[in-house]
Amino acid sequence: MIALRLDEIADLCPGRLERAAWADEVTGVQIDSRRVAEGDLFVAVGGGGDFAKHAFARGAAAVLLPEDAFASLGALGGAVRARSSAQVVGITGSTGKTSTRDILAAIVGPHARTIAAERNFNNELGVPLTLCRLEPDTEVCIVELGMRGFGQIRALCEVARPTIGVITNIAPVHLELLGSLEGVARAKAELLAELPAGASAVVPSEAPELEPFLQRADLHYTRFGTGGDVRLCSFERLNGNAKVEVEIFGERLELTFAFGARYQARNALAALGAYRALRLPLAGASAGASALRLTSWRGEELPLPGGGVLLNDCYNANPLSMQAALGDLAERAAGRRRVA
Ligand SMILES: Nc1ncnc2c1ncn2[C@@H]1O[C@H](COP(=O)(O)OP(=O)(O)O)[C@@H](O)[C@H]1O
Ligand SMILES: [Mg+2]
Repeated sequence: MIALRLDEIADLCPGRLERAAWADEVTGVQIDSRRVAEGDLFVAVGGGGDFAKHAFARGAAAVLLPEDAFASLGALGGAVRARSSAQVVGITGSTGKTSTRDILAAIVGPHARTIAAERNFNNELGVPLTLCRLEPDTEVCIVELGMRGFGQIRALCEVARPTIGVITNIAPVHLELLGSLEGVARAKAELLAELPAGASAVVPSEAPELEPFLQRADLHYTRFGTGGDVRLCSFERLNGNAKVEVEIFGERLELTFAFGARYQARNALAALGAYRALRLPLAGASAGASALRLTSWRGEELPLPGGGVLLNDCYNANPLSMQAALGDLAERAAGRRRVA
C-alpha cells in the first residue's frame, strides 16, 4: 500500500488510534486480524476491538477503534487512492460484476501492474480495502461497485474515483428499493455521473432503460453486445474452454477463455471494452485469457461419477442470473438428462 502516516490517519479517522512504539506510518489496512502483516493498520469493525491484541501480536503498526468504521475506511481508501496515478476501473451492473472483474484482471494482468478486488469485495468495506492495496507503481485497479439502493454507487465512487466506468447490465434486481427498471438504471448511472470529463464508459448496447442516462457529451461511450462497438462473432466450446471471436471497433480478435458458460462471453465483451479504454494493445488481450480463474460458484464445472457434469452456479439468484444459469444448463446438457 502507498504508506499513510499515523498523524494523518489520526486526522482522517475520528476514534481511538493505538500506535506501536516503533511505528510512524502504516503500509496496509486490514479488518480481519488474521490477515494483519507487519506494518498494517487494523481497523476494528463491529466487535473487532476484541482482536486488537491479536493484531499487535501479528505486527500491526496501529489499531484504530473508529467512531464510524465505514466512514474511516472510506477516508483511508480515499487517501490512498488520491495518491495513486493508477487507472481505476469501476464495474457495476445487476449481475456479472465479479465475473467481468475477473476477466478484465486476467487480460490486463500480463500488460500492466494490476490489482483487482477479491471475492465479492464491492461495498463500503470491500471497496476501501481494495484501494488500500494500491502500491506506488500500480497501473490499473479494478473495483466492483455493488448497491442495493440509490446513492450507494455515488458514495463508493467518491472514494474510488474511477477513471473508467463499466455497467454490465440492467435487470430487475433490488426492486424493493429501486422500484422499477428505470430506477435500477438511474442507480447504476450514478457511476457515469461520477466519471471525470474525457473518461470512457462501457455500457451494454441493449439496455434501453440506460439510454436516458447516456447524455454526457464529455464521455466516450463504448457499447458492447449485439450491434455494439464490441460484439461477439462466434462462440465455440473446446475442452471446458470457450473459443470466442469478437469484433472490437472493427478489429477482429480470437481469444480462448477458461470458462464454459455462454453468458460469460457477454462479460468478456464488457471486459474487452474496458481493456481497450485502458489503451492496451488489442492483440495482447488473448495472452491472459486462458489463465483466467473465475471466482468460485460462477458456472463452476465439476465432473460426476458415471460421466455426469455438475454445474455449480449457486452464487446468487435474481431473475437474470437464474435465467442465465438455467439456459447454460439446458445448452450444455445438449439433450442429456438435466436436473436443476
Ligand atoms: N452477463 C450475465 N448475464 C446474466 N447472468 C449472468 C451474467 N454474468 C453472470 N451471471 C449470473 O450471475 C451469477 C453471479 O455472477 P457474478 O459475476 O458473481 O455477478 P455479481 O458480481 O454481479 O453478483 C453467475 O453465477 C451467473 O449465474
Ligand atoms: Mg459480485
